[in-house]
Amino acid sequence: MNHMSDNNNRVDVTLVGLGSMGAELARAFVRAGHRTTVWNRTGAKGAALAAEGAVHELSIVDAVAASPLVITCLTTYEATVAALEPARLEGRTLITLNSGTPGGARRTAEWAAERGAAYLDGAVKNVPAAVGAPDTLLCYSGDKAVFDRYEETLRVLGGQTVHLGEEIDLAALYEYAVGGTLLPALLGFFQAAALVTGRGLPASSLVPYTVSWLQMIGSVLPSLAREIDSGSYGEPASSLGLFHEGIAHDEEVGRESGIDVSWLAPMHDLLRRAVAEGHAGDSISVLTELLRSATPA
Ligand SMILES: NC(=O)c1ccc[n+]([C@@H]2O[C@H](COP(=O)([O-])OP(=O)(O)OC[C@H]3O[C@@H](n4cnc5c(N)ncnc54)[C@H](OP(=O)(O)O)[C@@H]3O)[C@@H](O)[C@H]2O)c1
Repeated sequence: MNHMSDNNNRVDVTLVGLGSMGAELARAFVRAGHRTTVWNRTGAKGAALAAEGAVHELSIVDAVAASPLVITCLTTYEATVAALEPARLEGRTLITLNSGTPGGARRTAEWAAERGAAYLDGAVKNVPAAVGAPDTLLCYSGDKAVFDRYEETLRVLGGQTVHLGEEIDLAALYEYAVGGTLLPALLGFFQAAALVTGRGLPASSLVPYTVSWLQMIGSVLPSLAREIDSGSYGEPASSLGLFHEGIAHDEEVGRESGIDVSWLAPMHDLLRRAVAEGHAGDSISVLTELLRSATPA
């Protein structure tokens, strides 16, 4: 079977799922000259992509049959499996680009293998507007030979196209692990915004300072990771006790400003537990040990 378009040697691609992210992925392939077939549960989104040069299939069976490489960008693994169920995946390469859990990636890999498809799990670590940019990161895991076959094609979606390893759930693991910083960081910003807007100052006045602060946090991650990897917490740049002292400030600012700081309570509990266990003089990175202590299922 000829998997290439007539007028160039680029791989034909089918993109399943045209939400905010999937539509940008499809556009990137169209722009790069790939014959791009698209399918979406709600057909209107496919029609919009057809107007930009994609081939819109109303049937998932026909969409999957159209290309050797099938990339999905639905909300979850479960939605992906449900949408692909009627299609014949045998001989295709399936790459999923949704958020989810490592367990979800493993279950999807088993499901794909039962249907005779090669499978890579993937994750987009950026926003839809960044798709196709040289510094946009996408992570993949699974069979390296499959990744190598399609690496050049996948690079259309972002210049930082990385294979994390052969274990199928590594992309989901890193996607979840890295993404875990997002909500606490954003809540920290929203608390700051509540604080300054409560004083009649605009949230935008915070932005340059918060951005510097986030860069500072980024700059200390390598040394914190070294402490965690070596298990040596005894020479702290920032001791856990210092963060423990800050609990009183959080509570006082909450009281005097009338802002809700209750989302900090589980973090305060963790700091108190660490101090009770004798870690006040250790690096703040010792919290990793407490977080690791839950028994896995
Ligand atoms: N948006 C971002 O900033 C961003 C960034 C990084 C990663 N991601 C990840 O990318 C994935 C897609 O995100 P998104 O922002 O594109 O979401 P979205 O705009 O909400 O789109 C969701 C897509 O999934 C489809 N879908 C959901 N359930 C389905 C089902 N049961 N059967 C068939 N189709 C179904 C929707 O189809 P309909 O159009 O018919 O509803 C739509 O195409 C998510 O896993 C998300 O975490 C998103």
